[in-house]
Amino acid sequence: MNQPYLIECHDLVREYKMGQVTVQALRGLELCVDPGEFIVLLGPSGSGKTTTLNLIGGLDRPTSGQIIVQGDEITRYKGKQLTAYRRDRVGFIFQFFNLIPTLTAVENVEFALRLTEKDGRAAAQRSRELLDLVGLADRADHFPAELSGGEQQRVAIARALANQPPLLLCDEPTGNLDVDTGRQVLQVIRDLNRQKGTTVILVTHNTAIAAIADRIIHLHDGVISQIQPNPTPAPIAELDW
Ligand SMILES: Nc1ncnc2c1ncn2[C@@H]1O[C@H](COP(=O)(O)OP(=O)(O)OP(=O)(O)O)[C@@H](O)[C@H]1O
Ligand SMILES: [Mg+2]
Repeated sequence: MNQPYLIECHDLVREYKMGQVTVQALRGLELCVDPGEFIVLLGPSGSGKTTTLNLIGGLDRPTSGQIIVQGDEITRYKGKQLTAYRRDRVGFIFQFFNLIPTLTAVENVEFALRLTEKDGRAAAQRSRELLDLVGLADRADHFPAELSGGEQQRVAIARALANQPPLLLCDEPTGNLDVDTGRQVLQVIRDLNRQKGTTVILVTHNTAIAAIADRIIHLHDGVISQIQPNPTPAPIAELDW
């Protein structure tokens, strides 16, 4: 028997009402993702990439259509169920790292962990382990303003992994980084995918970056225009953009 999909999106529509005008950000998106896949959503500005990611991550709800994650229809979730879904099953990484400036690196990670881990000492230890995983053990006690952009983004990755989500959603994670630093961040995400089996959906408008995926989903005007399998993902060390 085939393994079930991790995520299924069926006929997803997201409309925004702007006075008299209705903007159709998504117009019937169909997408299935296997567990352990590394997917890139590629498309020009305004094509619906962030909208798709926010819907799958439970940050937003569709106008119509269904999203099923690990067999659960999350589009039926409201309130507490949706909060628990975001907390336990999804890690988010954004273009602007969204760290809390008054907390150190390790405290930023711990903050996310304490949503589920009540034992303070265990949370502190696990936060340091997560920072070690992204190569930042020696920066744990620095504040965000004392870290480079790439280091801040790696703290954000450690934070996203706090509750061991099966799914990591990354919205232009290298959009604010130089190429060298961007490669380091992509490598951390890719290693997590390959070594821990974390499913990744990464949004970009950059075709060079898209080449690292197992599958490239091309988005145009709120629908998928092409699904491109990529049997030989590009080595990140050789990427340039
Ligand atoms: N809150 C909103 N209200 C009204 N329209 C919106 C809203 N959010 C997004 N849109 C519109 O929906 C469409 C898709 O937006 P989305 O943010 O998903 O694009 P994107 O592919 O992520 O673009 P970018 O690469 O610029 O981030 C765009 O036309 C956008 O203007
Ligand atoms: Mg976007």
